Amino acid sequence: MASGHQMPDGSSPFAAARPGPHGARPGLGRRQALGLGLAALSLAAPRIARGATPVRLRFSHVVAPDTPKGQGAATFARLAQEETGGAVAVEVYPNSTLYKDREELEALQLGAVDMIAPSLAKFGQLGLPEFEIFDLPYLFDGAAELDLLTQGALGAELFGKLEARGITGLAWWDNGFKIMSANRPLILPEDFRGLKMRIQSSRVLDAQMLALGAEPVPLPFSETFRALQTGVADGTENPPSNMFTQHMHRVQPHATLSYHGYLGYAVIVNRAFWQGLDKAHRAGLERALAQASTQANAMARAGNADALAAMQASGATRFHPQSPTERQAWIAALAPVHRALAERLGGDLLARLDRALGR
Ligand code: LMR
Repeated sequence: MASGHQMPDGSSPFAAARPGPHGARPGLGRRQALGLGLAALSLAAPRIARGATPVRLRFSHVVAPDTPKGQGAATFARLAQEETGGAVAVEVYPNSTLYKDREELEALQLGAVDMIAPSLAKFGQLGLPEFEIFDLPYLFDGAAELDLLTQGALGAELFGKLEARGITGLAWWDNGFKIMSANRPLILPEDFRGLKMRIQSSRVLDAQMLALGAEPVPLPFSETFRALQTGVADGTENPPSNMFTQHMHRVQPHATLSYHGYLGYAVIVNRAFWQGLDKAHRAGLERALAQASTQANAMARAGNADALAAMQASGATRFHPQSPTERQAWIAALAPVHRALAERLGGDLLARLDRALGR
C-alpha cells in the first residue's frame, strides 16, 4: 500500500512525476515530441496505388474526443494514414457511438470492430481478473512504479494472456488518477456510507466501494451522467478529464481531490485482423501507434489538469483538497481491499509486483 504524498495545492501527487508510461522520455517536451514524430513521418511508406481501396481499421472507444484516449485515437488515425501511405484507413468511433463498454469487448472478439482501448478495469469481463490489479487503491506511488508494471515482464505477461482470447495487446495508454465525486461532501470514509457509487465493472472497484460503506453500482460509462442526474447513482470516480467531458460536474456538487486509484488503458486489436495485415502495413501501424502513444501519454497530465481547472472555474462543483490526515484515513479504510482481492488477481501477481517495486 503506497503512502503517497500530498501536493500543497491538493493536486495529484503524481501529476509532476508522471513521464507517462510507454516511454515518453523525461524532459521531452511536447514540442520536441511533436518534432520527433514529424521527423519520423518523413520515412513513411510509399503511397497506396491510385484507385486501390485502403484497408479499413475500425477503432471504437467510449470517451469524448478531447480526452487523453480520444486524442490518442485521433493521432493514431492521422499517423496511420501517413505511415502506411494511405494503405490503411483508421475510422475512429468515439464516445460509445459504435459500441458501449461490454459491447466493444464482444465486438472485438467477434471481429465486428478491429481495435479498442478499454480501461484496464474492464478486462475482468474477458475472464482476465489479473488486469484489475491496476484498480487497487493507493497501489502506485508515482509514475516509475506504474511503468514497472506496464513496461516490464509483468506487463508482457498480462498481454500474453490476451492471445488465447483472440486479442493482441499493442500499447499501454495513460489517463491518470481518479477523484471521487458525489451529491454530498466526501471528507472521511464514513461520508460514503449508504451512497450509491457508480463504478466500472471491476470486482476490485466493487470491493473498494464496499470497504467505504457505499453501494457499488456498475454501469457502462455512457450511462454514468444520466445515472447521476436521475439519482440511480449518488456519486462516482474518474480522472478529471472524464468527469469534465461527460459534464458530470453539472450533477455532482461535491468532489474530493483524492487521486486514490489509477485509470489507464490497453490498446488491443483483433488478433486475426492484425495477423492478416500485410507486414509492411502492420509495421507502419506500429510506428504510428508508438508515436501516438508517446504523444497521448505526454499530454494526459495536461489534459486532466486543464479539465480540473475548467470545472473549478465553472463553480458547479466544490472540489475539496484532501488533507494528509484525511488521505491517511482513506488509505487505512481501503487497505483490506488488497488482501481480500490478492487471490482474484492471480495469487502471486501482487506479491511479484511488490517484489519488483522493492517493497
Ligand atoms: C469509465 O468507464 O469510467 C472509464 O473506463 C471510461 C474510459 O474509458 O476512460
